Amino acid sequence: MIIAPSLLAARPERLGDEVRRADRAGADWLHWDIMDGHFVPNLTFGPHIVQRLRPLTRKPFDVHLMCSRPEILLEPFARAGATSITVHVELGSRVPQLLWKIKSLHCQVGLAINPPTTVSAIEPFLDQLDLLLVMTVNPGFGGQSFIAETAPKIQQAASLRRHRAFRIQVDGGIGPGTIAECARAGADTFVCGTALFGQRQMGRAVHRLRHIAMSQARFPQPAASRP
Ligand code: DX5
Ligand code: ZN
Repeated sequence: MIIAPSLLAARPERLGDEVRRADRAGADWLHWDIMDGHFVPNLTFGPHIVQRLRPLTRKPFDVHLMCSRPEILLEPFARAGATSITVHVELGSRVPQLLWKIKSLHCQVGLAINPPTTVSAIEPFLDQLDLLLVMTVNPGFGGQSFIAETAPKIQQAASLRRHRAFRIQVDGGIGPGTIAECARAGADTFVCGTALFGQRQMGRAVHRLRHIAMSQARFPQPAASRP
Protein backbone atom coordinates (compact mmCIF):
# COMPACT_ATOMS: atom_id res chain seq x y z
CA MET A 1 0.00 0.00 0.00
CA ILE A 2 1.52 3.33 -1.10
CA ILE A 3 0.66 6.62 0.60
CA ALA A 4 1.58 9.57 -1.63
CA PRO A 5 1.09 13.09 -0.23
CA SER A 6 0.17 15.62 -2.92
CA LEU A 7 2.32 18.77 -2.83
CA LEU A 8 -0.71 20.65 -4.16
CA ALA A 9 -1.88 20.81 -0.55
CA ALA A 10 1.53 21.85 0.84
CA ARG A 11 2.41 25.39 1.95
CA PRO A 12 3.94 26.81 -1.27
CA GLU A 13 5.98 29.32 0.67
CA ARG A 14 7.59 26.42 2.61
CA LEU A 15 7.80 23.79 -0.13
CA GLY A 16 11.25 22.53 0.89
CA ASP A 17 10.21 22.09 4.52
CA GLU A 18 7.00 20.38 3.36
CA VAL A 19 8.94 17.86 1.25
CA ARG A 20 11.15 17.09 4.25
CA ARG A 21 8.06 16.85 6.50
CA ALA A 22 6.40 14.33 4.19
CA ASP A 23 9.63 12.33 3.97
CA ARG A 24 10.02 12.22 7.75
CA ALA A 25 6.32 11.37 8.15
CA GLY A 26 6.91 8.09 6.32
CA ALA A 27 5.29 8.95 2.97
CA ASP A 28 6.12 6.31 0.36
CA TRP A 29 6.04 8.63 -2.67
CA LEU A 30 5.61 12.37 -3.23
CA HIS A 31 2.87 13.24 -5.71
CA TRP A 32 3.32 16.35 -7.88
CA ASP A 33 0.09 17.70 -9.39
CA ILE A 34 1.25 19.61 -12.46
CA MET A 35 -1.41 21.88 -13.95
CA ASP A 36 -1.10 24.10 -17.05
CA GLY A 37 -4.15 26.40 -16.74
CA HIS A 38 -5.56 24.84 -19.92
CA PHE A 39 -6.28 21.13 -19.39
CA VAL A 40 -7.53 22.23 -15.96
CA PRO A 41 -8.31 25.79 -14.75
CA ASN A 42 -5.32 25.99 -12.40
CA LEU A 43 -1.56 26.49 -12.66
CA THR A 44 0.97 24.82 -10.32
CA PHE A 45 4.58 23.61 -10.46
CA GLY A 46 7.15 23.62 -13.30
CA PRO A 47 10.07 21.21 -13.85
CA HIS A 48 12.51 23.68 -12.31
CA ILE A 49 10.69 23.54 -8.96
CA VAL A 50 10.60 19.74 -8.96
CA GLN A 51 14.31 19.69 -9.87
CA ARG A 52 15.24 22.01 -6.99
CA LEU A 53 13.34 19.87 -4.49
CA ARG A 54 14.60 16.53 -5.81
CA PRO A 55 17.73 16.45 -3.59
CA LEU A 56 15.65 16.86 -0.39
CA THR A 57 14.37 13.28 -0.39
CA ARG A 58 15.12 9.88 -1.87
CA LYS A 59 11.40 9.03 -2.08
CA PRO A 60 9.96 8.53 -5.62
CA PHE A 61 8.55 11.63 -7.32
CA ASP A 62 5.19 10.71 -8.86
CA VAL A 63 4.45 13.39 -11.48
CA HIS A 64 0.80 13.76 -12.56
CA LEU A 65 0.53 15.91 -15.70
CA MET A 66 -2.86 17.59 -15.98
CA CYS A 67 -1.60 19.37 -19.09
CA SER A 68 -2.85 19.75 -22.67
CA ARG A 69 0.62 19.49 -24.25
CA PRO A 70 2.56 16.99 -22.09
CA GLU A 71 4.83 16.30 -25.11
CA ILE A 72 6.88 19.36 -24.21
CA LEU A 73 7.06 18.46 -20.50
CA LEU A 74 8.05 14.78 -20.44
CA GLU A 75 11.76 15.27 -20.94
CA PRO A 76 12.08 18.27 -18.57
CA PHE A 77 10.29 16.39 -15.75
CA ALA A 78 12.29 13.23 -16.39
CA ARG A 79 15.47 15.30 -16.16
CA ALA A 80 14.11 16.98 -13.02
CA GLY A 81 14.01 13.58 -11.34
CA ALA A 82 10.51 12.20 -11.93
CA THR A 83 10.21 8.50 -11.03
CA SER A 84 6.82 8.09 -12.70
CA ILE A 85 4.96 10.32 -15.13
CA THR A 86 1.19 10.09 -15.61
CA VAL A 87 -0.75 11.57 -18.52
CA HIS A 88 -4.49 11.61 -19.11
CA VAL A 89 -6.28 9.20 -21.45
CA GLU A 90 -8.54 12.13 -22.40
CA LEU A 91 -5.67 13.29 -24.65
CA GLY A 92 -6.96 10.73 -27.15
CA SER A 93 -4.92 9.66 -30.17
CA ARG A 94 -1.74 11.12 -28.73
CA VAL A 95 -1.70 8.69 -25.79
CA PRO A 96 0.27 5.82 -27.45
CA GLN A 97 3.14 8.13 -28.39
CA LEU A 98 3.11 9.76 -24.95
CA LEU A 99 3.31 6.41 -23.13
CA TRP A 100 6.11 5.28 -25.43
CA LYS A 101 8.03 8.50 -24.76
CA ILE A 102 7.63 8.22 -20.96
CA LYS A 103 9.05 4.69 -21.12
CA SER A 104 11.90 5.79 -23.39
CA LEU A 105 12.81 8.32 -20.69
CA HIS A 106 13.11 5.42 -18.21
CA CYS A 107 10.21 6.64 -16.08
CA GLN A 108 7.35 4.50 -14.81
CA VAL A 109 4.36 4.86 -17.16
CA GLY A 110 1.10 6.20 -15.71
CA LEU A 111 -2.31 6.77 -17.31
CA ALA A 112 -5.14 8.70 -15.63
CA ILE A 113 -8.90 8.68 -16.25
CA ASN A 114 -11.23 11.46 -15.16
CA PRO A 115 -14.55 10.73 -13.41
CA PRO A 116 -16.69 10.97 -16.57
CA THR A 117 -14.34 8.73 -18.59
CA THR A 118 -15.22 5.00 -18.70
CA VAL A 119 -12.59 2.46 -17.71
CA SER A 120 -12.84 0.85 -21.16
CA ALA A 121 -10.91 3.87 -22.51
CA ILE A 122 -7.68 2.52 -21.00
CA GLU A 123 -8.10 -1.07 -22.23
CA PRO A 124 -5.82 -0.61 -25.30
CA PHE A 125 -2.94 0.41 -23.02
CA LEU A 126 -3.11 -2.10 -20.17
CA ASP A 127 0.09 -3.93 -21.14
CA GLN A 128 2.10 -0.69 -21.17
CA LEU A 129 1.12 0.61 -17.72
CA ASP A 130 3.00 0.68 -14.47
CA LEU A 131 0.30 2.85 -12.88
CA LEU A 132 -3.41 3.44 -13.55
CA LEU A 133 -4.79 6.57 -11.89
CA VAL A 134 -8.55 6.57 -11.30
CA MET A 135 -9.38 10.22 -10.52
CA THR A 136 -11.86 10.41 -7.66
CA VAL A 137 -12.49 14.12 -8.18
CA ASN A 138 -12.56 16.26 -11.30
CA PRO A 139 -8.97 17.48 -11.65
CA GLY A 140 -7.91 21.03 -10.95
CA PHE A 141 -8.10 21.67 -7.24
CA GLY A 142 -7.34 20.04 -3.91
CA GLY A 143 -9.77 19.82 -1.02
CA GLN A 144 -12.70 18.56 -3.11
CA SER A 145 -15.14 15.86 -1.99
CA PHE A 146 -14.69 12.26 -3.11
CA ILE A 147 -17.03 11.39 -6.02
CA ALA A 148 -18.75 8.17 -4.91
CA GLU A 149 -19.60 7.17 -8.49
CA THR A 150 -15.89 6.63 -9.17
CA ALA A 151 -15.65 3.71 -6.72
CA PRO A 152 -17.08 1.10 -9.15
CA LYS A 153 -14.46 2.22 -11.68
CA ILE A 154 -11.73 1.12 -9.28
CA GLN A 155 -13.28 -2.36 -9.16
CA GLN A 156 -13.56 -2.43 -12.95
CA ALA A 157 -9.90 -1.46 -13.24
CA ALA A 158 -8.92 -4.16 -10.73
CA SER A 159 -10.86 -6.80 -12.66
CA LEU A 160 -9.19 -5.72 -15.92
CA ARG A 161 -5.74 -5.98 -14.35
CA ARG A 162 -5.71 -9.81 -14.18
CA HIS A 163 -2.06 -11.01 -14.43
CA ARG A 164 -0.65 -7.57 -15.05
CA ALA A 165 1.36 -5.78 -12.35
CA PHE A 166 0.28 -2.15 -12.73
CA ARG A 167 -0.68 -0.25 -9.59
CA ILE A 168 -4.16 1.25 -9.17
CA GLN A 169 -3.93 4.78 -7.81
CA VAL A 170 -6.71 7.09 -6.58
CA ASP A 171 -6.44 10.86 -6.29
CA GLY A 172 -8.88 13.35 -4.83
CA GLY A 173 -10.80 13.47 -1.57
CA ILE A 174 -8.84 10.50 -0.19
CA GLY A 175 -8.77 10.44 3.61
CA PRO A 176 -9.80 8.34 6.64
CA GLY A 177 -13.44 8.35 5.50
CA THR A 178 -12.83 7.23 1.92
CA ILE A 179 -9.59 5.20 1.76
CA ALA A 180 -11.17 1.98 3.05
CA GLU A 181 -13.73 1.87 0.24
CA CYS A 182 -10.99 2.50 -2.34
CA ALA A 183 -8.74 -0.24 -0.91
CA ARG A 184 -11.64 -2.68 -0.78
CA ALA A 185 -12.35 -1.89 -4.45
CA GLY A 186 -8.74 -2.70 -5.39
CA ALA A 187 -6.74 0.52 -5.12
CA ASP A 188 -3.20 0.16 -3.72
CA THR A 189 -1.76 3.65 -4.20
CA PHE A 190 -3.34 6.65 -2.50
CA VAL A 191 -2.78 10.33 -3.27
CA CYS A 192 -3.72 12.45 -0.27
CA GLY A 193 -3.34 16.21 -0.13
CA THR A 194 -5.58 17.86 2.44
CA ALA A 195 -5.79 14.73 4.59
CA LEU A 196 -2.01 14.84 5.14
CA PHE A 197 -0.60 18.36 4.70
CA GLY A 198 -3.53 19.70 6.70
CA GLN A 199 -2.39 17.64 9.69
CA ARG A 200 0.04 18.84 12.36
CA GLN A 201 1.01 15.22 13.05
CA MET A 202 1.54 14.07 9.47
CA GLY A 203 3.36 10.89 10.55
CA ARG A 204 0.39 9.76 12.58
CA ALA A 205 -1.95 10.55 9.67
CA VAL A 206 0.21 8.59 7.19
CA HIS A 207 0.34 5.62 9.55
CA ARG A 208 -3.43 5.72 10.14
CA LEU A 209 -4.25 5.87 6.42
CA ARG A 210 -1.87 3.03 5.62
CA HIS A 211 -3.33 0.94 8.46
CA ILE A 212 -6.90 1.45 7.22
CA ALA A 213 -5.89 0.57 3.65
CA MET A 214 -3.95 -2.53 4.74
CA SER A 215 -6.84 -3.77 6.89
CA GLN A 216 -9.22 -3.58 3.93
CA ALA A 217 -6.81 -5.22 1.52
CA ARG A 218 -6.64 -8.31 3.78
CA PHE A 219 -10.38 -8.76 3.35
CA PRO A 220 -10.93 -7.89 -0.31
CA GLN A 221 -14.52 -7.85 -1.42
CA PRO A 222 -15.54 -10.05 -4.33
CA ALA A 223 -15.29 -8.08 -7.56
CA ALA A 224 -18.63 -6.44 -8.31
CA SER A 225 -20.42 -7.86 -11.33
CA ARG A 226 -19.47 -5.64 -14.25
CA PRO A 227 -22.24 -3.26 -15.33
C1 DX5 B 1 -6.97 17.36 -8.30
C2 DX5 B 1 -5.75 17.06 -7.49
C3 DX5 B 1 -6.17 16.67 -6.07
C4 DX5 B 1 -5.01 16.56 -5.12
C5 DX5 B 1 -5.43 15.87 -3.84
O1 DX5 B 1 -6.58 17.74 -9.58
O2 DX5 B 1 -5.03 16.02 -8.11
O3 DX5 B 1 -6.85 15.43 -6.18
O4 DX5 B 1 -3.99 15.88 -5.65
O5 DX5 B 1 -6.34 16.69 -3.24
P1 DX5 B 1 -7.04 16.34 -1.87
O6 DX5 B 1 -6.36 15.13 -1.28
O7 DX5 B 1 -6.82 17.57 -1.02
O8 DX5 B 1 -8.45 16.08 -2.21
ZN1 ZN C 1 -2.72 14.04 -8.91
